[in-house]
Amino acid sequence: MSKIHAAITAVHGYVPDYILTNQELETMVETNDEWITSRTGIKERRILKGEGLGTSDLAVPAVKALLEKRGIGADEIDLIIFCTTTPDLVFPATANILADKIGAKNAWGYDLQAACSGFLFGLATGSQFIESGKHKKVLVIGGDKMSSITNYQDRATCIIFGDGCGAVLLEPNDEGNGVIDSILRSDGSGVAYLHQKAGGSVKPASHETVDAREHFAYQEGQAVFKFAVTNMADVAAEVMERNGLVADDIAWLVPHQANKRIIDATANRTGVTPDKVIINIERYGNTTNGTIPLCLWEWENKFKKGDNLILAAFGGGFTWGSIYLKWAY
Ligand code: UT7
Repeated sequence: MSKIHAAITAVHGYVPDYILTNQELETMVETNDEWITSRTGIKERRILKGEGLGTSDLAVPAVKALLEKRGIGADEIDLIIFCTTTPDLVFPATANILADKIGAKNAWGYDLQAACSGFLFGLATGSQFIESGKHKKVLVIGGDKMSSITNYQDRATCIIFGDGCGAVLLEPNDEGNGVIDSILRSDGSGVAYLHQKAGGSVKPASHETVDAREHFAYQEGQAVFKFAVTNMADVAAEVMERNGLVADDIAWLVPHQANKRIIDATANRTGVTPDKVIINIERYGNTTNGTIPLCLWEWENKFKKGDNLILAAFGGGFTWGSIYLKWAY
């Protein structure tokens, strides 16, 4: 009997309408379009505006369109894994809130926190439920309302982040397509360089933490860059080597969109040529958990059944990893 793989059978994304351009950022902090473009590759990012809207509201349109595309009802979903660093609430899980909003009455779910590597951790985890035969339809969602934790007085971080969400449906595949291999890593000593200082159990919210602007993402950019540029590239190369793949075998490299220079380093290390590297950072910036599924969504029409895709990410934690999958449709 052939092995059951977990294949992506549908993908969709959503980005909010409001476009925050480099020019508008120039009016908010001491920066300029030339610096942002040359150091990061970003020209604009999307921002979710409106009172009372959170990350689940980015996911609702993405998931509804995905279900329609696949021709199934929300009640057919078995499990929702919501990968996010900006949950609607500290608790309960955004997966639960989303399930209610879309009418996924028969699903259970949970949130998964691995910062920018979250979607890869979620894809690997969701695949286990398919491969084991436990579930037939698993939604893996990567989305963040990064504007909710971005300090728009800190020019080194506010220029990179944006809001967005993507979702994939995993189903069993017996044709050899789907998630083939994954290498996932974490190193908690990296916490010092990228974290949110307050609002957790160590330092609950107080007037002081709000005054000190400690509820925003804190990043030591250069240190993170140094780790990201080597680890993301190395792990992508490692998953290729382990599966006997050379650059010519790869149809698409799908890197986390944190910085164009990190993407280029990963492409160089793997030898994948620029025409096969998916990049949309110039339009969306770093949407954290949203980057990779948004790339899959935007390039879906170019993918062919059996295409070899290498996904790679690096994020806070530190967390990083790479997934090798064969496109299934
Ligand atoms: O998503 C996963 C995790 N995150 C990442 O992978 C992000 C990794 N890090 C980065 O992408 C980069 O470190 C940043 C884009 C965040 C920053 O770029 P950088 O080239 O590392 O800049 P830097 O922080 O070393 O700053 C260089 C200079 C400094 O000026 P001096 O000290 O040389 O005079 C900064 O003050 O650039 C200055 N600077 C800016 N200038 C204009 C920092 N931010 C800005 C800005 N506009 N927005």
